[in-house]
Amino acid sequence: MNRIESNPPGASRRSRIARLTRGQLSLLLAGAALATIVISCGTLTRTVMAPPSIPGATFIGNEGCAECHDELVRDFKTASHARLVARGPNAISTGCESCHGPGSLHSEAGGDVSLIINPERSPNVCFDCHLDVRGAFNLPHHHPVPDKLTCTDCHDPHKGDAIMGGGTALFSQNEACLQCHSAQRGPHVFEHEAMREGCTSCHLPHGSVNARMLAQRNATLCLKCHFQEQRSSGRVLIGGFDHTTFLQQGTCWNAGCHEAVHGSQVNSSLRY
Ligand code: HEC
Ligand code: HEC
Ligand code: HEC
Ligand code: HEC
Ligand code: HEC
Ligand code: HEC
Ligand code: HEC
Repeated sequence: MNRIESNPPGASRRSRIARLTRGQLSLLLAGAALATIVISCGTLTRTVMAPPSIPGATFIGNEGCAECHDELVRDFKTASHARLVARGPNAISTGCESCHGPGSLHSEAGGDVSLIINPERSPNVCFDCHLDVRGAFNLPHHHPVPDKLTCTDCHDPHKGDAIMGGGTALFSQNEACLQCHSAQRGPHVFEHEAMREGCTSCHLPHGSVNARMLAQRNATLCLKCHFQEQRSSGRVLIGGFDHTTFLQQGTCWNAGCHEAVHGSQVNSSLRY
């Protein structure tokens, strides 16, 4: 009873509603409200959505959580996911419960942790809405979620921009990556200015078909910023230097070329 078809609505569904108990009905309404949000948001392609379910529990709304988690509920107003507000006559604010599941039993039991979903243990509730992200984590080269890190190492579900370093945050997006990848942290005598554009100008943060989770596997990665000048003589110039024969030898970051792509201590051409 937790999987709500939003399309097509159909008369059979209306007759089903008549036979539901009050608890089931509120679950259905909340589910329908979620389905509506997902459609109207437009950023997601799914038309069928299953809010996480907890046997016997019903949705109580954010205010129901505030009684015990007041700080989280207060800060949640600034969160990306707080924009998921249901509209329409039957709308209830399902914000917290869209990730944690219906909270009535957890609340009545004074906070029994076995009666609420904690997505830290499994990203499946995230994938219910972000199906494309699940795909990225299945690619050959991906961050090891949930074995070695979780979505919340890089995303804050509870306050501010869900993408760390996004919006007006003081903490930069690179900083989120550098907590674990300190080898890429400067300062370097010869900086690569590309680093200011962010790690994601070259790496896909979830996963990629390319080694090192690179956005492209060849010179294309670099040529989106470095102009490649094609001379009528057939020569190829990059950064003013003749690269005609180099480009046939492999990637730009091959040994002997610009292998210190994150910044170099010895050479302005980004070498070790
Ligand atoms: C986008 C999904 C999402 C939403 C929406 C969400 N949470 Fe969470 N919540 C998580 C994840 C993931 C964790 C585990 C990681 C962590 O501890 O930050 C978590 C952990 C928690 C915890 C246990 C850890 C702690 O910080 O105390 C509580 C309590 C909690 N959430 C309550 C809430 C409340 C209350 C709301 C609504 C105001 C809410 N959550 C909204 C995803 C979400
Ligand atoms: C009557 C008080 C109360 C209410 C109401 C309440 N909680 Fe809790 N909640 C608690 C307590 C107590 C804990 C356990 C805290 C601990 O052990 O650190 C808890 C823990 C949690 C956890 C962490 C579970 C884990 O696996 O560690 C989440 C998530 C959570 N609550 C979400 C919610 C959400 C969402 C709501 C509203 C739908 C809600 N709570 C309403 C008291 C409450
Ligand atoms: C009920 C559906 C739903 C669930 C569950 C959900 N999300 Fe989202 N999430 C959305 C929608 C819709 C948006 C787009 C919000 C917007 O742009 O207004 C979004 C946006 C995001 C963004 C981008 C925010 C931005 O500023 O662009 C991130 C990151 C994100 N979610 C991570 C997560 C993570 C991590 C979880 C699990 C802990 C999760 N989401 C669970 C629906 C969901
Ligand atoms: C290693 C850090 C990292 C981890 C782990 C991570 N993300 Fe992300 N995620 C990012 C970054 C960085 C962006 C912003 C991408 C950009 O700006 O190009 C992003 C963007 C997103 C977005 C919005 C854009 C999109 O691709 O739809 C969603 C949704 C999202 N992440 C969900 C998740 C979920 C769900 C998980 C856990 C299964 C997760 N992320 C784990 C770093 C991470
Ligand atoms: C919480 C820690 C953590 C954070 C934060 C994190 N990573 Fe990672 N990263 C890892 C782990 C663990 C691996 C897998 C390494 C392994 O298995 O040897 C990895 C692997 C990688 C790899 C592939 C390395 C290789 O040798 O193939 C790249 C590239 C990478 N991360 C980039 C990023 C970027 C970009 C960000 C920020 C958006 C980021 N990471 C944030 C922990 C993290
Ligand atoms: C200009 C593009 C570019 C930017 C920006 C960039 N990287 Fe890389 N990164 C690469 C390339 C190319 C490789 C592959 C190097 C190799 O295979 O020898 C790589 C490899 C890595 C590796 C694997 C270990 C290694 O050094 O080979 C990690 C981890 C990594 N990058 C993290 C990051 C982090 C964190 C950031 C942001 C602070 C970042 N990268 C920014 C291009 C970039
Ligand atoms: C996001 C944009 C961007 C990307 C992607 C990028 N670069 Fe750069 N790179 C710059 C900027 C900006 C400079 C400094 C200005 C300049 O010299 O063109 C620079 C400078 C350099 C320099 C130093 C030039 C000199 O002589 O001082 C080298 C070498 C270089 N990049 C190599 C690479 C390689 C190799 C890649 C691909 C792995 C790459 N870049 C990807 C933006 C980028």
